Amino acid sequence: MKKPSSSNPMWGGHYSQGPAEIMAQINECLDTDKRLYAQDIEGSLAHAQMLGDCGILSAKDVKAIQKGLRQVLKEIENGTFVFKTELEDVHMNVENRLAELIGDAAGRLHTARSRNDQVAVDIRMWTRSAMDRMIAHLHDLQVALVAQAETHAATLMPGFTHLQPAQPITFGHHLLAYVEMFSRDASRFADARERLNECPLGAAALAGTSFPTNREQTAKALGFKGAMRNSLDAVSDRDFAMEFLATANITAIHLSRLAEEIVLWTSDAFRFVKLSQAFTTGSSIMPQKRNPDAAELIRAKSSAITGANIQLLTLMKGLPLAYNKDLQESKPPVIKAADELEMMLAAMVGMIHDMTANADTMRAATDRGFLTATDLADGLVRALGLPFRQAHHITGRIVVMAEEKACRLDELSLKDMQSVEPKLTKEIFEILKPESAVKSRTSLGGTAPKNVAAEVKRWKKKIGMQGA
Ligand code: ARG
Repeated sequence: MKKPSSSNPMWGGHYSQGPAEIMAQINECLDTDKRLYAQDIEGSLAHAQMLGDCGILSAKDVKAIQKGLRQVLKEIENGTFVFKTELEDVHMNVENRLAELIGDAAGRLHTARSRNDQVAVDIRMWTRSAMDRMIAHLHDLQVALVAQAETHAATLMPGFTHLQPAQPITFGHHLLAYVEMFSRDASRFADARERLNECPLGAAALAGTSFPTNREQTAKALGFKGAMRNSLDAVSDRDFAMEFLATANITAIHLSRLAEEIVLWTSDAFRFVKLSQAFTTGSSIMPQKRNPDAAELIRAKSSAITGANIQLLTLMKGLPLAYNKDLQESKPPVIKAADELEMMLAAMVGMIHDMTANADTMRAATDRGFLTATDLADGLVRALGLPFRQAHHITGRIVVMAEEKACRLDELSLKDMQSVEPKLTKEIFEILKPESAVKSRTSLGGTAPKNVAAEVKRWKKKIGMQGA
C-alpha cells in the first residue's frame, strides 16, 4: 500500500511515518471545513486576545498572531490560499499557514485549547448564523404571503378536506395559514438559537486546562451569552445542530405542503394560480407547457433535509463522552441542509411574490361540490330550531336531490326543498351563496373576509410591513 512519506507536521512528533493514502483520505474533511474558515479565524483571534490579556502569551506574540491570522483570512477570501489535504482540516491548515507567515509564535496559539473545542465553537457559530439567515428568509416569506393575502382577503375558493371540496373559504385565509406555520418555524429557530448560544471554546480536549484562562472573555467576544459550564459537554454534544436540523426539517415539511398546493393550483384541473415565467420552465417538446419546477423541486428537496436530520440523529446515537471522530461527520448534514433550505425558502419567496391568483376560476369552483351544504344544515338549526343531527340528515336528502337534477343547491326550487322539509322558506336561498357562507364565518380564526383583513393588519404590524 502506498504511504505518504512524512508524518503530520501538527501532531506527528511521535510518528516516524505518514498515514496510508486511504487513511489520509478518510481522515480529511476539507470540503466541509472550507465553509468554516471565517468562524475558525474569528475564534482564534478571540482566543489569542484572551491568552494575551490573561498573561499567558506576550503582547508581542498576540500582535503577530492576530496580524498573521488576518493575513490568512485575506488569502482565503481572495482565493490565493492553498488548502492542503494532508493537513486534514481547516484548523491545521490555518495554523500551518500562520507558521509560514509569522514563524514560531504561531505555535503558541494552540495553548489552552484543542481542536475539539475549536471545531465545536466553529460549527456552533456557523449554525448560529445559519439560524439567523433562516429567520430572515422566513420573514421574507411571511411578507410575500401576507401581501398576497391582503389582495385576496375576500377572494373565494373552495376549502378542502381529504382534497375533496368542503366549504368555501377565502384565498387570503388559506395563505395566512402558512404565515402561521412559518412564524412558528421562525420562533423555533429563535428558541434553538438561545440554547445554542453558549461558548465551548476553552474546554480544551475534554477536561479543561491548567492555564489561567478567561473563558467568559472569549465567549463574549464571539457573541455568546456565556461559557459552557462543563468541558465534556462542551466538546461532545451537538444538540444545537440536532435542534437546527429538526427545525429545518419541520420548515421543509411546511414548504413541501405549500409547494404541493402550488403544483395542484397551477395544474389544468384547478387553474387557481398562475406562476410567473421567472419561476417556471418550458418543455423542450411541448411548446404549450409552463411547468412549476421550482415548486416540485422544493417538494423534492425537503427529502434531503429529512435525510440530514436522520443522519445526524443516527450519528449521535450511543456516542460515548467525550469527543469521538464521528463528530467530524456531524458537519456535512448541517451545512447541506442549511444550503438546501436557504435555496428552498428563497425560491418560495420569489414564487409567492410573483404568482397571480385566478379569482374567477376559484369563484367558479365554489359553485361545484355543494360547498354550502353545512350552511344549509346550520340554517335549519337556526330557522327551525332543529337538532344539528336532524338538520344534517335533511340537508343530505336535499343534496341528493340536487345531485340527481345535476344542479347547484341554490338552483333547486323552493318547492323541491319543501318536499324534503315543508317548513323551509325562501330566506334559505341567501344562505346558499358561497359569499354569504364565507361572510358568516366570523368566529375567532374563521375565514370571513372581515376576519382575514383584520389578521392581515395584525401580521403586517407584527412583521414590520409597510402600510401597517
Ligand atoms: N477535524 C476534526 C473535526 O472536525 C477536528 C477535531 C479533531 N480532534 C481530534 N481529537 N482528532 O471534528
